[in-house]
Amino acid sequence: PVKKRIVSGVQPTGSIHLGNYLGAIKNWIDLQNAYDTLFFIVDLHAITLPYDTQQLSKATKETAAIYLACGVDPSKASVFVQSHVRAHVELMWLLSSTTPIGWLNRMIQFKEKSLKAGDENVGVALLTYPVLMASDILLYQLLMVSNFCYRRGGAIFKVPEPLIPPAGARVMSLTDGLSKMSKSAPSDQSRINLLDPKDVVNNKIKRCKTDSFPGLEFDNSERPECNNLLSIYQLVTGKTKQEVAEECRDMNWGTFKPVLTDALIAHLHPIQVRYGEIMSDASYLDSVLAEGARKAADIADNTLKNVYQAMGF
Ligand code: ADP
Ligand code: NA
Repeated sequence: PVKKRIVSGVQPTGSIHLGNYLGAIKNWIDLQNAYDTLFFIVDLHAITLPYDTQQLSKATKETAAIYLACGVDPSKASVFVQSHVRAHVELMWLLSSTTPIGWLNRMIQFKEKSLKAGDENVGVALLTYPVLMASDILLYQLLMVSNFCYRRGGAIFKVPEPLIPPAGARVMSLTDGLSKMSKSAPSDQSRINLLDPKDVVNNKIKRCKTDSFPGLEFDNSERPECNNLLSIYQLVTGKTKQEVAEECRDMNWGTFKPVLTDALIAHLHPIQVRYGEIMSDASYLDSVLAEGARKAADIADNTLKNVYQAMGF
């Protein structure tokens, strides 16, 4: 039987944080055993807003090294850089020619950003990046080429099934508990970065927002910070929710914070050690990315060939 294929990636903008790790990368480690997996660094999506050209390729390599340090295994998964596989950009153009502008105009994010900055200051890619996202997926999901057909007004691909991540994988900001932990949040205090040294982790947890309720509990809507910190603790220790609920029920913040800090440091330390080793061997990382791009291009180029053919080229 053919293994199902999974494609996922993270943008090389800013530091990879606990949200990226617990919400995405950590899950890949299990997925890579059971599925045909492609994990890429989404560099073409990192240029739709003003960015630092000096930083782009550096951040791309660092992100790749983090994937490997977290346990992504190049013998089980193709690890590659999006821009190394030219088919992404090519398919985007082909899909763009049949994507109604109306679909893209409905995006709230674009409306807000273009209203704020003015049409003359916002790049076209900020409107059309969803077409690139569609290409990122469709290039690899199109397993059965015989199912493919093309008619005016729409290309028909194999419709991808979404993979719903396990519950509790949405990590919230440390400073408000209500917004998502994110690379783009202005305050570094709001996130734990995977490469944060011990004292930084310690400080961020010490200063993170809590509440004045007695005891600690999951799922109290008045205590989003408490739910978030217990969930992080659960995910980095591998304990069950039940175990964490019982262990922490009678704790207060003063007793829980050092426990959480130790658990985080214990989980992140081996990742940071491996990251250092990988970054010190540039030729190894380059060879992994070259091999990953070759494997991805094998699949993607074949899809692209069929799309060109279906479109009358
Ligand atoms: P960011 O929002 O930090 O820029 P990306 O948009 O690059 O992150 O997302 C990369 C991956 O990380 C996606 O799979 C996304 O679902 C996941 N992710 C990002 N932030 C979080 C979060 N706070 N909690 C859980 N998963 C997250
Ligand atoms: Na795999």
